[in-house]
Amino acid sequence: MADLSVTVDGLKLPNPFVIASGPPGTNANVIAKAFDEGWGAVVAKTVSLDASKIVNVQPRYARMRVGREIVGWQNIELISDRPFATWLEEFRQLKAKYPDRVLIASVMEEYRKEAWVEIIERCQEAGVDAFELNFSCPHGLPERRMGSAMGQDPEILYEVCGWVRAASSVPVWAKMTPNITHIEEPARAALSAGCDGISAINTILCVMGVNLRTLRPEPTVEGYSTPGGYSCRAVRPVALRMVMECARMMEQEFPDRSLSGIGGIETGEDAAQFILLGAGTVQVCTGVMIHGYKLVHELKRGLSEFMDEHGFKSVSDFRGRSLPYFTSHSDLVHRQAEARAAERARAQGVVTKDAHWSVDKFVEQSEQLVAND
Ligand SMILES: Cc1cc2nc3c(=O)[nH]c(=O)nc-3n(C[C@H](O)[C@H](O)[C@H](O)COP(=O)(O)O)c2cc1C
Repeated sequence: MADLSVTVDGLKLPNPFVIASGPPGTNANVIAKAFDEGWGAVVAKTVSLDASKIVNVQPRYARMRVGREIVGWQNIELISDRPFATWLEEFRQLKAKYPDRVLIASVMEEYRKEAWVEIIERCQEAGVDAFELNFSCPHGLPERRMGSAMGQDPEILYEVCGWVRAASSVPVWAKMTPNITHIEEPARAALSAGCDGISAINTILCVMGVNLRTLRPEPTVEGYSTPGGYSCRAVRPVALRMVMECARMMEQEFPDRSLSGIGGIETGEDAAQFILLGAGTVQVCTGVMIHGYKLVHELKRGLSEFMDEHGFKSVSDFRGRSLPYFTSHSDLVHRQAEARAAERARAQGVVTKDAHWSVDKFVEQSEQLVAND
């Protein structure tokens, strides 16, 4: 039976399945439920120093279905609206009750050094095991240059990650926005500033649709809407591409750093694909909102079965295994032309290897090999 445990940046996880920042990690009760059910680690809902500035609306979700199945999920939810002091108390309680489990604080602040240093120091005092820096929330607070407004600017990112790295004595992951052309650029900035790892991806900026009866975009709040973040199964191909791009860059430039894959994971087979493209852990948010915390049992079963089929004993046995099979389109054309030429030669009985000599065509084959007559 495969060993699902992983050690990432010195953190020991019983399995690579991590609750992604969002509703499934939004208070101490639900985080405790995640640990009890057996999730490998939890990234709590993103916190900031002053929750009074965070005002959510209802409805704030809209869903895309194919038949009865939910495949896409838009949210216009902000980061946590719960007081920072409450969060610190809950981090303390959780670490007292689950000393061996990995609790990661997700933090987001304005572009001010004092704010970042304060939030890091106070969360660290409360006992969190690591940080995830939310540089990626797509819809809220751009007017305060927070979230993806910061994550789209590698220079600012480098500076902020440097402040955090200097203030923190535990591992730090930077969570990337997909709402950018080349995700490697902010990822490189965060790693150059000393971050231990990259998490990718946050939600993709979207408009779920327009109600054809009311002519209003959805989700509609008092008749109006705003673009939100897209998640769930439908984003998985985009997430896989972006994880692959980060992994290829990291393989070359930062081989000892970690990568946490996120986006549309609902099965162990989905998770295996992210690991094959270089992720060491995988995170799930919307999948938990649809299927509940027990999903982790299915995820573990699916991943174990995949590993047993291939004889992989541990996650590190196949992490990044599929990365070498990406190449350029022009190389695909070249490879196909070569394969077709070899096929034609075989069909015509041309000898390209000694094993091709045939009793029936021996004389013709000899002729074909003559250079000139
Ligand atoms: C309702 C909702 C709220 C979210 N809130 C946060 C958040 O506070 N901080 C954060 O970093 N990501 C947040 N996310 C993004 C998720 O952590 C994750 O990156 C994204 O949803 C893609 O993964 P998934 O398809 O498994 O949901 C949120 C996602 C959803 C659906």
